[in-house]
Amino acid sequence: MLMETWDVEYILWAPDCQQRVMIGINGRFPGPNITARAGDVISVTMNNKMHTEGVVVHWHGIRQFGTPWADGTASISQCAVNPGETFVYKFVADKPGTYFYHGHFGMQRAAGLYGSLIVLDSPEQPEPFRHQYDDGGELPMMLLSDWWHQNVYAQAAGLDGKDRHFEWIGEPQTILINGRGQFECTLGPARKSFEKLFNENVETCVNDQKMCSDQEKCLRRSECGPYCPRSQCAPVVFNVEQGKTYRLRIASTTSLSLLNVKIQGHKMTVVEADGNHVEPFVVDDIDIYSGESYSVLLKADQKPASYWISVGVRGRHPKTVPALAILSYGNGHGNAAAVLQLPAGEPPVTPAWNDTQRSKAFTYSIRARKDTNQPPPAAADRQIFLLNTQNLMDGRYRWSINNVSLTLPATPYLGAFHHGLQDSAFDASGEPPAAFPEDYDVMRPPANNATTASDRVFRLRHGGVVDVVLQNANMLREEVSETHPWHLHGHDFWVLGYGDGRYDPAAHAAGLNAADPPLRNTAVVFPHGWTALRFVANNTGAWAFHCHIEPHLHMGMGVVFIEGEDRMHELDVPKDAMACGLVARTAATPLTPA
Ligand code: C2O
Ligand code: CU
Repeated sequence: MLMETWDVEYILWAPDCQQRVMIGINGRFPGPNITARAGDVISVTMNNKMHTEGVVVHWHGIRQFGTPWADGTASISQCAVNPGETFVYKFVADKPGTYFYHGHFGMQRAAGLYGSLIVLDSPEQPEPFRHQYDDGGELPMMLLSDWWHQNVYAQAAGLDGKDRHFEWIGEPQTILINGRGQFECTLGPARKSFEKLFNENVETCVNDQKMCSDQEKCLRRSECGPYCPRSQCAPVVFNVEQGKTYRLRIASTTSLSLLNVKIQGHKMTVVEADGNHVEPFVVDDIDIYSGESYSVLLKADQKPASYWISVGVRGRHPKTVPALAILSYGNGHGNAAAVLQLPAGEPPVTPAWNDTQRSKAFTYSIRARKDTNQPPPAAADRQIFLLNTQNLMDGRYRWSINNVSLTLPATPYLGAFHHGLQDSAFDASGEPPAAFPEDYDVMRPPANNATTASDRVFRLRHGGVVDVVLQNANMLREEVSETHPWHLHGHDFWVLGYGDGRYDPAAHAAGLNAADPPLRNTAVVFPHGWTALRFVANNTGAWAFHCHIEPHLHMGMGVVFIEGEDRMHELDVPKDAMACGLVARTAATPLTPA
């Protein structure tokens, strides 16, 4: 068993060299890296040391078989943990892969509550590409995020604002790599600052035993350095030895941005996506949407030197300078600074932000790995069509699914079903709509932009095979449609296909990929396009399915699946997971089997 104790608290931190308040774990940002082995039990005792808000933590990509209350979704799988209280997350790291964890209450993820979660393979669950990289060839995981100087409370208030008081969060100030970035350091000045970092400053910082405990000594705010290598915003360095092959894990927990990672002078071979094996393919750069993760193999086959790694914004007109890191040869051990050479030349330029065809080509080329492929069941029992639209409700912007914007109840769904309170804890008068009008034109702004809000849920039969078609549409403004990465809790799904325009079963169903669709837990829906998924509802619990863009989820862009409701009472739900809402008030007891 892997045991951790966490204090979640507000911290002052300078992730991009400007100090702000963030949510940290054990006094740091990002939170601790967790590395487990497949089959291990992970136990995290979380103390909420924030004085004014509840908190939960979601383990993104972990399926939580048998432990749905440990999924960490406020109002869905558990009650938010109150200030001063403790909650123990205990669950099995069910399969090897690249994951992360993050807050799942309000917009706490965007406030910095996240960290990496690696599950190593085991003899029972070997990874077929393990022999393709060297022993000791596991590089530190690259966890990507985006960062705003405006705090999340202001962001949320702006998003909720009525009429003229609506304020969009805008583009991020800084892209962070493992929680580190350099605000407004454009490529030119960045070069200088990197040089300062590794030359002038080595003396004062590295040799100083106090090692940057005094930030001001090593770092002048809002300038491009110089950076102390140990300061909170120092660039990240990945050390490699020439001739070896490495595994680099890349995951994205951005609030908004689609990112692209490009390494100067090196190609990457994609082998894993969201904890599933993909048929290896070679790329120059990799797109990554919020909620996704990849492993790539990286051969250090260039001349011993240093190389830039660029992380740039795609999919939205970038107003944020690319993040930079360094791949450094010839120094296999820890302290890179003293002998690091700066890369020659300019950092590589990531592909044009609006080259959607290129993004599609990358996404479409992801296939299940041939020798471990588990194809999906041949047919589904149930089909759900989810139209994604932007709407207005009483003067407020909302995102809606079939004209219903998600609101969450005070009593977590899982607790409501477990205690037999489902008829009073939320609107149980029916399910949300599972289809949208035949004549809806997805290429045009909504003819009627009104929407309703509801906490109704889809109720799936245990073991049923479910098809979901996510249908994108035009926004309120003419000729704009955004990209939405949808993430499903409690499952991986097969991505059966993508297409442009409106999904038409008669025309498209036959062309879906039943042979080698990749398993994922996050799938992108392209502008004005559709994405078709299949999964087996074999995990008793209450699972969120939503756009992983934090402000979109905040504005209602999600649905909830209840699975196996007839089995909920059998679950051994810890009492303190559900001590809120109706469960707390009625002191109800679980139903006994009939
Ligand atoms: Cu990583 Cu519901 O999210
Ligand atoms: Cu979205």
